[in-house]
Amino acid sequence: MSDYDHLITIAKQSRENAHAPYSNFRVGAALRAASGRVFGGCNVENATYGLSLCAERTAIFKAISEGERGFDAISVVTDTDGLTPPCGACRQLIWEFCGDVPVVLSNLKGKTEVLRMRDLFPKPFDASNL
Ligand code: THU
Repeated sequence: MSDYDHLITIAKQSRENAHAPYSNFRVGAALRAASGRVFGGCNVENATYGLSLCAERTAIFKAISEGERGFDAISVVTDTDGLTPPCGACRQLIWEFCGDVPVVLSNLKGKTEVLRMRDLFPKPFDASNL
């Protein structure tokens, strides 16, 4: 059993809650805090498309708003043949709150790949630039 199995399970469960009637592209995410708590998230779309929120940011905002700080992994699950990496906006947010964590990409067929944030998001703009 991989260190990430629980995280992937929570991301899959969260994906079931996706509100994606416009894209029909359902995404689940799970964020693991250093404390051990895991926060799930799904994408939440809106009729004004631009207000839609990705699964990863839902999970991050849930955790931050619960007072959690310090994270050591994030998982993203979609029902696709290939794996789905976080969008650019999510990469910025993951970097802000999680730094160079493993990003665990999975599909429903059991395929998984683990990438590092530093590879997904080289040359970030962050607090060190201010
Ligand atoms: N989406 C996510 O939730 N996470 C990703 O990593 C990629 C895209 C959502 C946004 C939108 O609701 C739908 O997938 C299609 O772009």
